[in-house]
Amino acid sequence: MPNPAHYKRRRAEFLAAIDTPVLLMAGGWISRNYPANWNPFRADSNFLFFFPEPEANAAALFDPKDGSVVLFLDERTQADALWHGAVPSFTDMKRALGVTAVEQRAELAKVVRKKIGRRRLRCLAIADARATAEAAALSGEALDFYSSARIGDEDLLRVIAHLRLHKDEAELAEMRIAAGVTREAHTLAMARTRPGIYEQELVGHVEGTFARHGCVPAYNTILSVRGEVLHNHAHGNLMLETDQVLLDAGAERPSGYCADVTRTWPVNGHFSPEARDVYDIVLAAEKAAIDAVRPGARYRDVHMTAARVLADGLVQLGLLKGDPGALVESGAHALFFPHGTGHLLGLDVHDMEAFGDLIAYGKDRQRSKQFGTAYLRLDLDLAPGMCVTIEPGIYFVPAILRDAAFKKQFKGQVDFRRAEEFLTMNSLRGFGGIRIEDDVVCTAAGREVLTAAIPKERLAVEALVGSGVA
Ligand code: GLY
Ligand code: MN
Ligand code: MN
Repeated sequence: MPNPAHYKRRRAEFLAAIDTPVLLMAGGWISRNYPANWNPFRADSNFLFFFPEPEANAAALFDPKDGSVVLFLDERTQADALWHGAVPSFTDMKRALGVTAVEQRAELAKVVRKKIGRRRLRCLAIADARATAEAAALSGEALDFYSSARIGDEDLLRVIAHLRLHKDEAELAEMRIAAGVTREAHTLAMARTRPGIYEQELVGHVEGTFARHGCVPAYNTILSVRGEVLHNHAHGNLMLETDQVLLDAGAERPSGYCADVTRTWPVNGHFSPEARDVYDIVLAAEKAAIDAVRPGARYRDVHMTAARVLADGLVQLGLLKGDPGALVESGAHALFFPHGTGHLLGLDVHDMEAFGDLIAYGKDRQRSKQFGTAYLRLDLDLAPGMCVTIEPGIYFVPAILRDAAFKKQFKGQVDFRRAEEFLTMNSLRGFGGIRIEDDVVCTAAGREVLTAAIPKERLAVEALVGSGVA
């Protein structure tokens, strides 16, 4: 966990960059079925950025006029101490965190109104709708968490993004720990894989590993023999001898910093000849894209690097026809690689995705409208401290490869008959999909792969699968 001085410095940087008071909300408990049965609490990432392990319902008023940070916390009651355990007093919290004052959360509206007077207040929408409504009522803004256009004032988003975009050493240290826990989870899942068990058994090993290290899944674990379903969150399939299993899972630390890693391996420990070919192409694309990460590189070009290597390999496999450059230009590769090469990573697994393309594409860049490239979540020029994922894949998706419009559009570039062989192999279950994903931080010298210790060389993966040892 970064130390209190780290968070204090971040708050000071924020205060120096804003010109109106800003109220940030951590959010509260969100009920799962009846009011007192809650989902695990997770503070909003913009709050987590400024405070270590925030309490539910916390809020903070940043005032650049006097450089103050007033923290609002729930009153310490005897009932809370009984049911949930005693927590430090306001005085202790003020001292530990180094904030200007700690006030009662119940007094939030009164204290904020008094302090800001007639000045403009800015807030952000967060996942907790009640907290967002409170913030909107105080600031008069039309906030909506589910619309990136209404998440908050654009200048405020830019100020926060500027701070969050470049990870400092303390943040990177957290991400390295998350990567280490994620390594343990992935290698354990590989080691415990064998034909005849259900996917959920491996999910237990993955998420149990996170829990043993005080972490939680940073996002819903994807563990599936149906790897072509990109965000497949069901875990009920029986894993058969000739299936491949795709695991996309990452640990999140109590600080909020996380990892996002994908590996794919054969259930019986031996890639079939077709799977071996596809795996090698995806791995080559991933390595080429990782090598393209450096200061000044445009992320779209990193994506295109991966796309070209994939297209080249798909030509070798007889699935695409023609010049790889032309195939990428027309978008033919996207029938097998229908998503972007990656995204920002940090406190959110898709870091600051709630802020929309304003941050991930910057002011002057627009998303492509072409199928596949339209899903590219990032198009910034990379700079030291930026963390991104690199996650190319090849998938055999019936809904894409049997689509009449695509068949017509890409008639000369895609061998749909060959694709049909992949869709029907493995006793008609189809090939599925292969993705390999690592987390990469751009450094002055080029890059550091935070997740490099997680095996991905084909022989190393095969040796680990089913070994029982991790
Ligand atoms: N785990 C989601 C993603 O890779 O983007
Ligand atoms: Mn992932
Ligand atoms: Mn990812």
